[in-house]
Amino acid sequence: MDKLRGFVFRVGVALCLGYMAGTLSGVVSRAAGGGGVERKNSQQLVEKGRAVYVANCARCHGGDGLGQTRVGEMVEAPNLTNARWQARRSDSRIKGSIARGRGQMPAFSKKLSRDEVAAVIAYVRTLKN
Ligand code: HEC
Repeated sequence: MDKLRGFVFRVGVALCLGYMAGTLSGVVSRAAGGGGVERKNSQQLVEKGRAVYVANCARCHGGDGLGQTRVGEMVEAPNLTNARWQARRSDSRIKGSIARGRGQMPAFSKKLSRDEVAAVIAYVRTLKN
């Protein structure tokens, strides 16, 4: 009887471990797979944003975001690479500034689609250091 109980116990433990391992590996592969897709999407967004930036923003803010172009210095374009400066500006505030303009910066709502604005914000966030 004891032998049988020991056997049942061992089978139970084995089944249990097998189940846990299966669940765990599912979770791990989902996490890895999901992250991969997300990373790829945000990379594509940043790439698109870079193109929008070069075409529309770099003349004032500079290719590097420092704002040290001739026009940028005239209009006093802020340094987009300053992480503390960026931290004080939410995505929604920046979205509004790009769409409606702010100070000497022109409005882009007629020129850029929502997707392009979202992409260029994602790109601007990569400039900070
Ligand atoms: C004509 C020059 C010019 C162009 C073109 C320009 N900017 Fe600006 N930008 C400025 C100036 C000047 C400011 C400072 C505005 C202020 O605070 O008075 C500014 C501010 C900003 C800010 C801070 C906004 C805030 O809410 O404080 C961001 C972010 C920004 N620009 C991004 C961009 C992006 C992205 C583009 C392209 C789509 C762009 N700028 C195009 C001149 C420009």
